[in-house]
Amino acid sequence: MKRIITLFLLAFTLNSYSQQVPVLIPMPSELTMHSGNIDITSDAYISVSHPGLAKHAALLQSNLLSMHGIIVPVEPERTGNKISTWIRLAIDKNTDKNPEGYSLTIRDKRIMITGNSEAGLFYGIQTFLQLGDPRSDRMEPVAFPLTIPQLSITDSPRFKYRGMHLDVARHFQPVSFIKKYIDFLAAYKFNTFHWHLTDDQGWRIEIKKYPRLTQVGGYRNGTIIGRYPGTGNDSIYYGGFYTQEEIKEVVKYAAERFIDVIPEIEMPGHASAAIAAYPQLSCFPLESTKILESTPWAGSRKGKQVQQTWGVFEDVFAPTEYTFNFLEDVVDEVMLLFPSKYIHIGGDECPKESWKRSAFCQQLIRSKKLKDEHGLQSYFIQRMEKYINSKGKKIIGWDEILEGGLAPNATVMSWRGEEGGIKAATEKHDVIMTPGNWMYFDHSQSTNEDSVTIGNYTPLEEVYSYEPIPAKLANEKAKYILGAQANLWTEYIKNPAKVEYMIFPRITALSEVLWSPKEKRNWKDFESRLPGIFKRLDQQKINYSKAFYELKATVLPTENFTGLLWKLESTVNEPILVKVNNADSVWVYTGPQLITDKTFVAAANFKGTTLSQKFHFNKATGKKIVLANEASKGFPGDGPFTLVNGVQNEKALTRSREFLGFAGKDMEATIDLEQVQPVNSIILHVLEQTGSWIYRPTSVSFYASENGTDFTLLETVIVPKGKRHLLYETKKPVKARFIKVLAKNMGSIGSGKPGAGNPAWLFVDEIEVK
Ligand code: ACM
Repeated sequence: MKRIITLFLLAFTLNSYSQQVPVLIPMPSELTMHSGNIDITSDAYISVSHPGLAKHAALLQSNLLSMHGIIVPVEPERTGNKISTWIRLAIDKNTDKNPEGYSLTIRDKRIMITGNSEAGLFYGIQTFLQLGDPRSDRMEPVAFPLTIPQLSITDSPRFKYRGMHLDVARHFQPVSFIKKYIDFLAAYKFNTFHWHLTDDQGWRIEIKKYPRLTQVGGYRNGTIIGRYPGTGNDSIYYGGFYTQEEIKEVVKYAAERFIDVIPEIEMPGHASAAIAAYPQLSCFPLESTKILESTPWAGSRKGKQVQQTWGVFEDVFAPTEYTFNFLEDVVDEVMLLFPSKYIHIGGDECPKESWKRSAFCQQLIRSKKLKDEHGLQSYFIQRMEKYINSKGKKIIGWDEILEGGLAPNATVMSWRGEEGGIKAATEKHDVIMTPGNWMYFDHSQSTNEDSVTIGNYTPLEEVYSYEPIPAKLANEKAKYILGAQANLWTEYIKNPAKVEYMIFPRITALSEVLWSPKEKRNWKDFESRLPGIFKRLDQQKINYSKAFYELKATVLPTENFTGLLWKLESTVNEPILVKVNNADSVWVYTGPQLITDKTFVAAANFKGTTLSQKFHFNKATGKKIVLANEASKGFPGDGPFTLVNGVQNEKALTRSREFLGFAGKDMEATIDLEQVQPVNSIILHVLEQTGSWIYRPTSVSFYASENGTDFTLLETVIVPKGKRHLLYETKKPVKARFIKVLAKNMGSIGSGKPGAGNPAWLFVDEIEVK
């Protein structure tokens, strides 16, 4: 904390000597600084060019009071000679520019905010509100003068879809916080809130015709404890839902802030809560929900149950007339509540087991001449699309809706990477990019998270680096990319404070990706604004991650394959102190540290930020390694060397640089030990987390060779030791210079398992040779 304060003081000092560019997020398209500041003094007033803009004046007035502690009256334009501070809100409709654009000019006590439309005016006001420091600590409205710089801004967004998603099914959030979430979106010029309202663990929207959806489907008897598959069940009856009146209130609140609320009603998968309420929606209404013996569970395991654990579940909507009537009724009520032109119908992660087992589904596939169950999924979505289109609305679906044929007018949300988006745009469908590696804000943003997250690692820099128009997409198809969105799935996010922590500061990076011109996006510049962003978040008492200030360590190979290099980086320009093992001395880091010891504990610290690493030296550590298949782009670690870097994955999935991921492919590594020598044991470290589609290999074969050409199979191991961090070991003594390890990927994930039908992930962490 002290460190941050020092930085702020520094920034403040600089500010008072020169005309600094203010901390604006997102950075406007065009900004010109004029010399000097103006003071908004107690004689200031707000006027509107047209009575219809009174609500903007009222919102500005209330924000000036809550953020800056000043009361500024709304009055007709003053006449006469006395110059007071004048904030004029206007709309210039005679412009054919981007309707979300605006201009903001601050000169000689005149603050002119002119929108190309009301939305533009709203965004201009948001920019204006970022110009002075918030003073939320002052309760009295005595904070005059508010000093702001003189400048001119002309601004409009790069993308027309700028979204944030929130899952309220896994964990429910009260209306008061939903409004706060909408405030966050508005402040950073997002225009879409994707509200994920139904899932296996809870149905959260009142549907008058089907009251059991919320009475039964809105509650579960407990929730697993810890990361999936869980160490127990909390046995706490949990749930909640939004009444239709509350939904209307949220939609109105969002509309006043120019935010479109898109409801998501999941189908045909993620349907456990609906089925618990109305079992006829299932292919097998009389069968109990399948709950694994090993799943920690609260209450009865009989009958249809709202899920208490995470993942993907087999009991999905049956494609019957009963179900379609039900869904049409639900959608009818939903459409009355949400003015958005879109309804999100989900479409993701729908296991096909029930449809395969069901005589009705098989008969339907034959009678409709569908290819298979994917064809049936496509039939399901297309039928719902037709209904929704007939009511004048459009559907959005996750990229699985591409499988078996895309519904004719559907917009696709590309989440399993960029491929779905590229394919849909190539087929001339609108696309919203939300690929996991950059846009999943449920991922860890630190390598040292102190609470459970779903895993993975998506730091601020990665979000900032995201380019929504895929490089592989043909230029003339770029127009189909409407924009992008970050998703917040809440399996491990139980309360508003954690929601804030997970989205801040990443939402500020995304805001700039979506709004600012591509050529203006500059990480170094954004980085220089971060202390100011953090200061504002502190003042607004918003919880956020400080991972940006953490030291980052990388393990590198040496040129001659002896030992390792430990490289440290810091975003803070101050000395890093290094301590080796239990040595008494501490020294200042000057460059990568050579490490050759057998086991080695190194620690570095910079004021409050510490880092330590244990190295497990063995015969393979730091040696030359070659892979037959490259790791997948999403999990490249630090290249093949990751497997011999002496770092064992003590933090499971939170440190994605410490393991390699192979989607559907085998891992085959060959290590050169440099000379023939006795080898007594070879160990492969593997990670398993089936809920995230990460599966153990079907077998691991160990080979040895003296010449690198003729390999002898030592042993094939099927059964590992350990849980989740799995060890495959052979103890056949041999003399060898080259070691080969082949881990066979499960391939396509089998039925009944999380991710069924998709390529399995094989996550490999380290190879030890002793
Ligand atoms: C998703 O993350 N299942 C869309």
